[in-house]
Amino acid sequence: MKRKKKVHDKHRLYQVSVQNPTSEVAFMKRVFKGTRKKEALTLREDFCGTAILSATWVKKTKGGKAQGIDLHKPTLDYAQKVNIDPLEDRADDVELVLGDVLDTYSFQPDIIAAYNFSYFIFKERAKLLHYFTQVHKALKSGGMFFMDIYGGPEAQHIQEEETDHDEFTYVWDQAKYNPITGEILCHIHFDPEDGPRMKKAFTYDWRLWGLPEIKDVLRDAGFDKVDVYWEGTDPKTDEGNGVFKKSTKGDNSLCWVAYVVAYN
Ligand SMILES: C[S@@+](CC[C@H](N)C(=O)[O-])C[C@H]1O[C@@H](n2cnc3c(N)ncnc32)[C@H](O)[C@@H]1O
Repeated sequence: MKRKKKVHDKHRLYQVSVQNPTSEVAFMKRVFKGTRKKEALTLREDFCGTAILSATWVKKTKGGKAQGIDLHKPTLDYAQKVNIDPLEDRADDVELVLGDVLDTYSFQPDIIAAYNFSYFIFKERAKLLHYFTQVHKALKSGGMFFMDIYGGPEAQHIQEEETDHDEFTYVWDQAKYNPITGEILCHIHFDPEDGPRMKKAFTYDWRLWGLPEIKDVLRDAGFDKVDVYWEGTDPKTDEGNGVFKKSTKGDNSLCWVAYVVAYN
């Protein structure tokens, strides 16, 4: 009898290899409380995908609520089934909205988060400014906007980077970069141990924005203050140690990831 091939779920592999919702929720809570001297209760997760951040927010926040916004219905259906319904009596504290983050919504959260560089989808400054302005308007007074960004000279190289996981290898493929427009085309491939490559499981057609430009556009959108949280270095490996601290001077590494926090 033929052995049934294990069916791979690209969203699950993505969550395992790319996302770290527990540390992201802890980071947002720490920074919000440290600055505003009170707990954040409500989160809007822009470009939510599988909404694992929203699910984690509700799990970690007594009385907390979250709203996830994404354009892609099949991904939202997956999110509801795999990450929200299992919250059981807390499932109603997460609302998934099929919509565009550029639109106006009535929910006024303490925090809006845009992770995994999703706002790189806006390639024109005017579009990015429109998005940041919408975020600024949507936040509760005293709210905060959290996002991540990556850069460094290696971010512009055409290269594939592999990371091993238990049942598969994650491949980040920087396929094209145009220095004139800053446009970058990247793919995620998965190499499962027991099957063929899941080629181009995800594709990102982005503009690789620079950190100073992002800070400028946030200020133009009305944010009073913008902070950058830079990752520390593990002296043994010379790699990032996962600890992000507010900083005005980043070490000039070949590739870096940072958090940007904007205050309204
Ligand atoms: C890179 S994934 C991010 C998933 C998740 N936020 C994370 O941290 O890994 C980008 C997601 O943004 C969604 N998206 C793209 N443009 C959007 C828009 N204008 N409004 C809402 N969602 C959008 C896509 O459908 C996709 O699910």
